Amino acid sequence: MRSVLFALAMLIAPISAAAQGIVPACRVARLAESPAPREALGGLGMPPSHLTDEEVDRTAACLAAALDRTLAAVRDRAVAGKGWTAMSKAFRASEHGTFLQVYADGKAAPSYAQYEAGARMGEGATVIKRAFRVDADGQARPYRVYVMERMRTGYEPGVNDWRFAAYESDGTLIGETGGRGNVRVRFCADCHQAGRAQDYLLFVPPRHRLDAR
Ligand code: HEC
Repeated sequence: MRSVLFALAMLIAPISAAAQGIVPACRVARLAESPAPREALGGLGMPPSHLTDEEVDRTAACLAAALDRTLAAVRDRAVAGKGWTAMSKAFRASEHGTFLQVYADGKAAPSYAQYEAGARMGEGATVIKRAFRVDADGQARPYRVYVMERMRTGYEPGVNDWRFAAYESDGTLIGETGGRGNVRVRFCADCHQAGRAQDYLLFVPPRHRLDAR
């Protein structure tokens, strides 16, 4: 009986891990050996200071296929089937313990790549942010996808007609402004107000930009 239960557990564990997007091979070895102390953890997992730049790069490379699966699962007409250009050199640590990278589609990239100096983007231009997280024991997994799409004039005048949307790593919609779950994404525009002089874009920090030396 016990061995049957054990066999069952061995079968179920990888299935539920896969459902959460966990890639067992993508684990930060240093943390797997000695997990970070609890009090050092940020809101979601690791505080940024606990991964070196090299560990961030290695983890992002290991998760590349899983991150692509997450993006493919996002059923958003502004996201599906598009090619994306990274707008920073690499994933970077955020203050929430996640690791982020911004990408732009063909309509948004020429302007976003000039950051504050860029021209205002036209209708349809889309910018997304991909993310992964790393738990205290070093286990990495894809995290949410954030979307900003420029809609037609008049859609949301308070934010220059950007539509904000957020998706879980399995592609489930968290919410979108002007659509389902819109109360759950109101805070997006609140924070992006800080960038109203630059079309509500906040831009990656200078040291991570494509032109940074
Ligand atoms: C607490 C502040 C804050 C909140 C809340 C926030 N963002 Fe952002 N967002 C930022 C910052 C700062 C950047 C700059 C990029 C970076 O951090 O690397 C950014 C960048 C972005 C970008 C890339 C375009 C740009 O502005 O550079 C997208 C897309 C985005 N956020 C979507 C969202 C969505 C969707 C939500 C809500 C679910 C959201 N954001 C909530 C702070 C915030």
